[in-house]
Amino acid sequence: MRVLLLGAGGREHALGWKLVQSPMLERLISCPGNPGLAEIGDVVPDVDPDDPSAVVALASSENIDLVIVGPESPLAAGVADALIEARIPVFGPTQAAARLESSKSFAKEIMAAAGVPTAKSATYSDREAAAIRLEEMDGPYVVKADGLAAGKGVLVTDSLEAAIVWADACLGGRFGTAGSSVVIEDHLEGEEVSIFYICAAGEAMPLQPARDYKRLLDGGAGSNTGGMGCFSPVEDVNDDLIDWTTVNVALPTLAEMAGRGIDYTGFLYVGLMLTSDGPMVLEFNSRLGDPETEVLMPRITSDLLAVLKAAANEGLTGQTVTWSDQAAVDVVLASPGYPDSPTTGHLISGLESLEIAEPLGSVLVFQAGTRDVEGQLLTSGGRVLNVVGLGANIGEARENAYAGVHRISFEGMQFRTDIAAQRKEHPE
Ligand code: AMP
Ligand code: GLY
Repeated sequence: MRVLLLGAGGREHALGWKLVQSPMLERLISCPGNPGLAEIGDVVPDVDPDDPSAVVALASSENIDLVIVGPESPLAAGVADALIEARIPVFGPTQAAARLESSKSFAKEIMAAAGVPTAKSATYSDREAAAIRLEEMDGPYVVKADGLAAGKGVLVTDSLEAAIVWADACLGGRFGTAGSSVVIEDHLEGEEVSIFYICAAGEAMPLQPARDYKRLLDGGAGSNTGGMGCFSPVEDVNDDLIDWTTVNVALPTLAEMAGRGIDYTGFLYVGLMLTSDGPMVLEFNSRLGDPETEVLMPRITSDLLAVLKAAANEGLTGQTVTWSDQAAVDVVLASPGYPDSPTTGHLISGLESLEIAEPLGSVLVFQAGTRDVEGQLLTSGGRVLNVVGLGANIGEARENAYAGVHRISFEGMQFRTDIAAQRKEHPE
């Protein structure tokens, strides 16, 4: 099979790493890809993955058998729709289906109609009405830009004033049209967990869960980020919780969408808060998580490509994903200034020593914000590298991850030292 993988981050490098292990794979092309993906396949850096007709043209000219979409932006731009129209198999939801992520108010509407437990919320496009609602509430306040804001559109705060200023800024254009309405919702307390599905033809096949550390600094302090580290498996998420999520969240959501004529084929990411009143959905994403993918892919022992091909063509009947008992821990190495204003262009050293030192494969490095300049690897984004340790348990995987981290350096490198030390972001 000839596969086109869209995206350029650590998630896509991990997906690509898994896909090239498939006996079905003939060729992997990544667009735009990154230097890590360039080591394991071909990359097409000069085609915009968010441009539906450019992606169709690339897939046609390369005789692609399956397109796999990593990030949300091509989905929201309608890339899957254009591929379906051109009869090119694609694993990734259509624009209408991807609204589960690209419009928080739409996701809330679907959840309400499908009876999915979630925080009570209302949507506002008027500043004054938003401010009045916030004044009526008790803190902490949760205010979300409705549309895609690269993970930056959500504010959780104890300050009424800050919440009003945030709603005002969103509605005033801070996130462009993504903020032309805001969702204000009740604050939920608890531990978060990410549960993933492969969805097709109304069916949802669960993957194993992972827990992401969203804050920049040790102990859960500092700004919210895209994710500073991750681990899997997650001991406080048992099979019962996954079954509960399948029955009470994933399947009713797909059925509600189907009832509106919207088929959902692709990964579905369910962000759950485990509250004292039971699990509640924080958000849906129409893709896999990053860095969650980096700890899930090394734990899959079966052929993922076979499942994604089936999902994109005929459905999930007869398909399974099998898992190793190994644990995986990912420590993200980020640029100085991340997440607000990362500075980039620094030389990354130590990766080669890691490849020589780890012949047994207990450390994997997935690249994200990197750039190859005449054979030298430079930093080029906020999150630069994912160092993933594997081991018989989380403790061993964690040791291997940090052993890897300590071999790598670049100017101003930031990372958390407590990933998977406590298995929760907010331990009691
Ligand atoms: P979202 O993009 O909607 O998942 O929000 C980003 C992050 O904000 C989540 O991962 C949570 O940490 C936090 N968050 C979102 N909604 C709530 C809520 N209702 N209560 C508490 N925290 C929340
Ligand atoms: N790790 C969070 C996300 O991918 O949205």
